Amino acid sequence: MDKIHSLTGMLDLYEDGDSSDLSKNIFETEKRIKKIFSNYYLKEIRTPALEDTDLFKRSAGDVSDIVNKEIYSFQDRNNKSIALRPEGTASVIRSVIEKKLDQSAHKLWYMGPMWRYERPQKGRYRQFYQAGVEILGYPEGSPEFEMISLVCTIVEEFNIEDCTIKINHLGSQENKKAYCDALIKFLEPLKKNLDEKDLERLSRNPLRVLDSKNEGTQLILKDAPSLKEFLEPKSIELLEAIKGEFSDVCNIEIDYTLVRGLDYYSGFVFEALSSNLGAQDSFLGGGRYDDLCSKLGGKDLPSIGMAIGIERFASLISEITPSDKIVSFITLGSTLEPKTYKIAHRLRSLNKNIILDTQLSDSSLKAKLRRANKNNSEYAVIVGEEEFNNGTVIIKPLKDELKEQQTVSIDELFEFYKAL
Ligand code: HAM
Repeated sequence: MDKIHSLTGMLDLYEDGDSSDLSKNIFETEKRIKKIFSNYYLKEIRTPALEDTDLFKRSAGDVSDIVNKEIYSFQDRNNKSIALRPEGTASVIRSVIEKKLDQSAHKLWYMGPMWRYERPQKGRYRQFYQAGVEILGYPEGSPEFEMISLVCTIVEEFNIEDCTIKINHLGSQENKKAYCDALIKFLEPLKKNLDEKDLERLSRNPLRVLDSKNEGTQLILKDAPSLKEFLEPKSIELLEAIKGEFSDVCNIEIDYTLVRGLDYYSGFVFEALSSNLGAQDSFLGGGRYDDLCSKLGGKDLPSIGMAIGIERFASLISEITPSDKIVSFITLGSTLEPKTYKIAHRLRSLNKNIILDTQLSDSSLKAKLRRANKNNSEYAVIVGEEEFNNGTVIIKPLKDELKEQQTVSIDELFEFYKAL
């Protein structure tokens, strides 16, 4: 019978048994990022994977690549056009409007799969995971600093090397419009030198031409008007203040050509990139989107947010040592197992910060110790027939070669474990 394969650009992830480090890094990244989010007093929001297609047309802009070419949308059994979410921001705003939460401020996070029908390549998938943050109800100012502080914390926590955080300000909708007009005026006479993709961008969303990968276009753009000339002084001051405050923690660069692929942004925008990622070099992006809520039928809700691409981010982590302490519980002899299992049960209740791996197979001590080393256990608790009959167990340190193994009573084991 023919085998059934996974769909193009969609990964299976295994915490255990995958030869690559990517899956392992993804799971560990998610765990640690959630911890950081909770340190910033962000609260979780979970929205459905499927939404009305119009939500994304009206939010991302139906001229954006994401909606125009990449959306997974189809008719359901009732002939309604629905879409797998390509990003999380629109769903969050749809949800707060629906729950009438758009009248107050919220600091939210989410994590989950997103779908974009892109041509798969390294770091670009059709199903990928995002960890996102949306800070709703606060006008420009402190939230921008909070956002960059959060990005720096994440970059530092994972020791991401060769990382640059690019920041820019798109100005108000009026500034943005004036700049777009100037850009069109500049590019119009040079149209014959632009490729098809850039011509399309010019007619649909001129700012996106700045993001062109075409070297010829980039050469032309060297003489283009700069966005900086269209910004108000307070916008430039904000960029300089953020760079000034955080440059000792992260590599921050003001880049007046930075634009984002979604139409809802105005004001402060940013991206984090690493030269180690290749062509898809941005592992995180975000910005302010003050008009989205009212555009979707809600109140005026000044907002800012960002999302991390988990796969890209996890691929940057060279070596990740699990943050949890692990102890392996090894019983020798299958007849002993039922009697000793209660010890493992008690250990787990005594110290909830430790992960206890009870080895369930009937293999040799050597094989069990191999597994304990592989799963990064700090100690092995070994219960052999003879020791158990004498009311003792062995505690074997696995990481510190200078420490000797010791035979202790069950009560001593409990005290030891509690103090770990
Ligand atoms: P975005 O820049 O479209 O922004 O996506 C954020 C991140 O998702 C990217 O930096 C990238 O790491 C990852 N990503 C995007 N597409 C793919 C793909 N096909 N494969 C793998 N990773 C991918 C947003 O989605 C906005 N909603 C962010 C935001 C939140 N802005 C305000 N609030």
